[in-house]
Amino acid sequence: MKNTIVINTDIEKGKINRNIYGHFAEHLGRCIYEGIWVGEDVNISHTKGIRNDVLNALQQLNIPVLRWPGGCFADEYHWKDGIGTREERKRIVNTHWGGVVENNHFGTHEFMLLCEFLGCEPYICGNVGSGTVQEMSEWIEYMTFDGESPMANWRKENGRTEPWHLKYFGVGNENWGCGGHMRPEYYADLYRRYQTYARNYGENRLYKIAGGPNVDDYNWTEILMKQAGAFMDGLSLHYYTIPGDFWKGKGSALNFTEDEWFISMNKALYMDELITKHSTIMDQYDPEKRVGLIIDEWGTWFDVEPGTNPGFLYQQNTIRDAVIAALHFHIFHEHCDRVQMANIAQTVNVLQAMILTEGDKMLKTPTYHVFDLFKVHQDATLLAIESDIEIIKRGEIEIPKVTVSASKDASGICHVSLVNIDVENSANVELFLQGIEGNLELSGTVLTATVQNAHNTFDQPENVSPAEFRQFQLENDTIDVQLPPMSITILKINS
Ligand code: AHR
Repeated sequence: MKNTIVINTDIEKGKINRNIYGHFAEHLGRCIYEGIWVGEDVNISHTKGIRNDVLNALQQLNIPVLRWPGGCFADEYHWKDGIGTREERKRIVNTHWGGVVENNHFGTHEFMLLCEFLGCEPYICGNVGSGTVQEMSEWIEYMTFDGESPMANWRKENGRTEPWHLKYFGVGNENWGCGGHMRPEYYADLYRRYQTYARNYGENRLYKIAGGPNVDDYNWTEILMKQAGAFMDGLSLHYYTIPGDFWKGKGSALNFTEDEWFISMNKALYMDELITKHSTIMDQYDPEKRVGLIIDEWGTWFDVEPGTNPGFLYQQNTIRDAVIAALHFHIFHEHCDRVQMANIAQTVNVLQAMILTEGDKMLKTPTYHVFDLFKVHQDATLLAIESDIEIIKRGEIEIPKVTVSASKDASGICHVSLVNIDVENSANVELFLQGIEGNLELSGTVLTATVQNAHNTFDQPENVSPAEFRQFQLENDTIDVQLPPMSITILKINS
C-alpha cells in the first residue's frame, strides 16, 4: 500500500518547545560518576573534572535543559553535603541505587558548571521526601540570591560571587513512590507549603514543577490540579516503555524477538493516550493551558546487561531504542500546546542513554543520533499534517506503519521526520507539500539498520550511524519516498 501524507506548510499548529529535547542525569550507577564527572586527578581528558569526550558529544545535541540530581535520589539528597572543599564533603550511601558510596564530589557548583558548558538551563529537583522546607528554601537562596544573606555569603565563600540563573525547579519526585509514598491529597498540601518558600530573588523567576502522576493515575492529576494547580507552572508525568513486566522481567535490550519489537512500539505509542487523557483533566482546571505537562522521565527500561550491578540500570541501546525515541518526539510535537518539557532518562550509562562509557572509551548510541537529527525541530513551528497510513497487525497489536512530523524553522526551512516502524518491510510514502512555491531543494539523512538489535560497541562505535538519504524522487510539490524498514528519516526542504 502507498501511504499518503499531506503537509500543509502554511497551517501552523504551534511552537515545538525546545525543552521537549531535554535530558535527565541522576546520581545513579555510572551516569554522573564516570559518565560525566571523572574528577581532576585522572588520566581521562577533562575540563574541571568533567570528561571532555562526553562533553563534546553532548554539546553537539544543543541540550536545552538538564534535570538533576534525581529521580529517586533527589528525595534523599541533602544539597549542603555537596558544597565546599571536595575532600571534606560527606560520604553517604546511595540507598536507592546499588548501596554504593556517594562522595558528593559532584554537587551544586559542579552541576551548574556542566550546564554552563552545555549552554543549557538547569532543572533542579528538590527534596520533599526526606528534606525540610527550610533546606529547600535555603538551596534556592544559595543559588539565586544576589545580596547579603547567610546562604548567598556561603556561596561566595565557596567561590561563586554571582548568583546563578535558575528557572526550573521540581518540588520532589515521584511523591507517590520513592519520593514518600504519599496520597495525592497529602502531597498537594505539601506541594503548596514547600513551594511557598521557593522564593523569587531579584530578577530570577522560578518555574515550579509539581510531582505528577505515575503513568495512568488520572486521579492524581485531578487532585493535584484541583488543589494545587494555581500554585504550579508545570506538572510532571513519568512513563517508561517496558516490553515485559517491571518486576518479573522487563526484557533484554539486545536479545529480543520480533514480537517484542512490536510490543515495544505499541507501548511507546501509549504515551499519546496518556498525554491526551492527562491533558483533558488539566484542561478542566486550566483551559488556558498555562500549566505545562512536564514529561521529565521517559524512555526504554530493559533488564540490566548481564553481569552488571542490578542497581545501576545499565542497558545497551539498539535501533529499536532509536525508533522509540523518534516516536516519542512525534507524539510530544503533536501535544506541543500542553507538553512544555520532556527529559529522557538518562543521559549517560543509565537506561535509554545517549552515551555509553567504559574507562576512557565512549560511544554514541542510536538514540544519540535521533536527538542529533531531530534538533532541527527545536523551537520550530509545527505544521499541520493529514495522512492515510497503513496499519500493521501483529497478534492483538495494531499500529501505524509510519509516523510523521513536520516543522518550519525561523529561516523558513521545513523539516519532515518520518519513522518506519515496520521491522521487515520498507514503506512507500507519497508526500504532498501544500502552500510551498518555487523550486524545491531537497536533502535527507537516515538512521537505519539491517538487524533489529543493531547497536554500537566500543569496537564498532559507528555500526548504527546516520547516512545520506537518497531514496526519494521529487516532482513539483510531490515527493515519493521509500523508507527502509526500522528507520528514521529527516528530509530538509528549502524553497
Ligand atoms: O530513572 C530511574 C528512576 O525511575 C528514577 O530515579 C525514578 O524517578 C524513576 O522511578
